[in-house]
Amino acid sequence: MSTPATTESAHDLYTHLRSRLRDVVPDVELRYKAELAARINTLKRERNAIILGHNYMEPALFHSIADVGGDSLELSRQAANTDKDIIVFCGVRFMAETAKILNPSRTVLLPSARGGCSLADGITADDIRALRERYPGVPVVTYINTSAEVKAESDIICTSGNAAKVVESLNADAVIFLPDEYLAGNVAKTTGRRIIFPTRAMPSVSTPTLEHALIAWTARCEVHDKFTLEDVRNIRTQFPDTVILAHPECRPEVVDASDFSGSTSAMIRFVEDTNAPRYLLLTECSMGDNVAAANPDKDMLRMCSVRCPHMNEITLEDTLEALTKTQHVIEVPEPVRVRAHRALTRMLEFS
Ligand code: 13P
Ligand code: SF4
Repeated sequence: MSTPATTESAHDLYTHLRSRLRDVVPDVELRYKAELAARINTLKRERNAIILGHNYMEPALFHSIADVGGDSLELSRQAANTDKDIIVFCGVRFMAETAKILNPSRTVLLPSARGGCSLADGITADDIRALRERYPGVPVVTYINTSAEVKAESDIICTSGNAAKVVESLNADAVIFLPDEYLAGNVAKTTGRRIIFPTRAMPSVSTPTLEHALIAWTARCEVHDKFTLEDVRNIRTQFPDTVILAHPECRPEVVDASDFSGSTSAMIRFVEDTNAPRYLLLTECSMGDNVAAANPDKDMLRMCSVRCPHMNEITLEDTLEALTKTQHVIEVPEPVRVRAHRALTRMLEFS
């Protein structure tokens, strides 16, 4: 049973959630979730914890318990700088691992035993070691959506918000860029590089020249892979005054046909700043709910709803359990952490 103090804050939270989310979340769900959120917030204070929430968290959780919301880069910075004893990462495993790498003296909790990501699962540390043998001396830029072991094999990390700039900062002729095939395609376009896929047969050349090349991998985000050029064309035909925003994990032809591409937080800022009456987000659908709630004066087109199944594992119920039982604790072996930290710090210092 709830204490009076908890009941009071549950009511406050319900009022707060209702004012923001009444158009996107049913009332009965808001009442239930406000109760849970109030218990989490009480426990959070008692345990001196901070909750970081990625922009893909479901709306009620995002607006009730997250002390800080943001994209991968912003949340990494928050994780590195917090002085709280516990970091609860409402996101996926690679994000929680990044928090542990950057701030190892804190206890980092992920409210899910899994928390995967099709990009992080798409490459291993052995793959990078093999690439280094094949392309000696070529620097390795690795997307933050990877495991700690993969980060440890990398020279520098990048995020969706700084990928092209990180590649350019190296002033290198050839660069290995891992593991997202589409992000690599988008970075190759922005930086004017030729893209090479070592795992794919190149019919006309046996040994392609590495001059100004981006050597890429073939992992994909299972969510952004679903958006097609035809989707963009259909929207342009049906609703020509729509501003279309695509995450850089989308196919290069989709990004090309869109009006804006940027990290999840950059997309949120763009919607807030645009005068266009309607917009379409080519990204994960819970973020769509969060953006719709924050911009009630603009129409968000709902072309299709693609939910990240991994982000979807993070619930208020499991967050409460994680804080109550101190589970699931993220550990990174120290030799791996030290090397991964070097690659991450290089990015944070650069950006
Ligand atoms: P952002 O860094 O843009 O938030 O992206 C993270 C992610 O997983 C996108 O699918
Ligand atoms: Fe990974 Fe894609 Fe989910 Fe982001 S949306 S966590 S890249 S599977």
